[in-house]
Parts: sequence; C-alpha cells; structure tokens
Amino acid sequence: MTAWGFLAVRLPLPENKAWAADRVTILQGLGVLDPEGQPTPRLKVVKQAKVARLTQEEWQKERDKMLQTCNQCHSKNFARAELEKGDKMIQVADHLLAEAIRIVAGLYQDGFLKKPE
Ligand code: HEC
Repeated sequence: MTAWGFLAVRLPLPENKAWAADRVTILQGLGVLDPEGQPTPRLKVVKQAKVARLTQEEWQKERDKMLQTCNQCHSKNFARAELEKGDKMIQVADHLLAEAIRIVAGLYQDGFLKKPE
C-alpha cells in the first residue's frame, strides 16, 4: 500500500482551492461523488477495497512508512523533497484530467454523447 494508492485521489480535499475543485471533478468522474458532490454507494466500495486513503492520518502513516524506506539509502530531506515532487506531479496531472472530464461532461450535457446503458 502507498500513500496515494493507485487512483491518486484521497481525502481530505487539498487546501488549495483549484486543486480541491479538480479533485472533486475526478471523484465525480469516478462516480464516487454524484454531480451535486454528494457521496454515492461507490464510496463504500472504495472504502472496503482500500484503494484510496480517506483520512489525513491514513495518508500520513503510509507517507511516513515510505520515507523510512527511502531513508535506508537517502537522507530524509532528499527523500521528502523527491516525494513532494511526486505530489506536485499529481496536482498538475489532476488539473489536466479534470479539464478533460469537464469537456466530456459538457458533450453529454449538450447531447453530443449518449449515455450508455
Ligand atoms: C536500497 C537503497 C535505495 C532505496 C531504498 C531508495 N533508493 Fe533512491 N537511489 C538509490 C541509489 C543507489 C541511487 C542512484 C542510482 C544511480 O545513480 O544509478 C538512487 C537514486 C535515486 C534518485 C535519482 C537521483 C538523481 O539525482 O539521479 C531518486 C530521485 C531517488 N533515488 C529517490 C528515491 C526515493 C523517493 C526512494 C523511496 C521511495 C528511494 N529513492 C529509495 C538507492 C535507493
């Protein structure tokens, strides 16, 4: 298990407002939140399968474990800075992904795409 998990979404939402909005869009795209931003039954599946960290403590625990691992060979500061670069990459990737989800959602709203069964 890693801090970010393989979906790279987690709770709580980031303090950065733009990033938080992107994350909500991604969670909506994943069907974990509905279009109004309310949790769907899928959140229970995410919880049960442990595919995302859902509290700050859960995330921090895995991050600290990873830092310990890196620290077997690298200094703590180096490892921390490298992992923070990864966090930044997720932030930038989240923005691109959210933008794509909004474009596709607009195509559904305008009737250019038909919702499958
Ligand atoms: C078992 C020892 C070991 C562990 C554990 C380890 N590394 Fe490394 N890491 C190395 C070695 C050795 C190199 C240099 C490899 C080379 O230059 O070919 C390296 C290189 C790197 C580099 C490239 C540095 C550069 O300037 O090119 C980064 C970034 C890095 N490690 C990050 C991490 C992170 C983050 C973790 C924890 C998730 C980690 N490493 C865990 C041994 C380790």
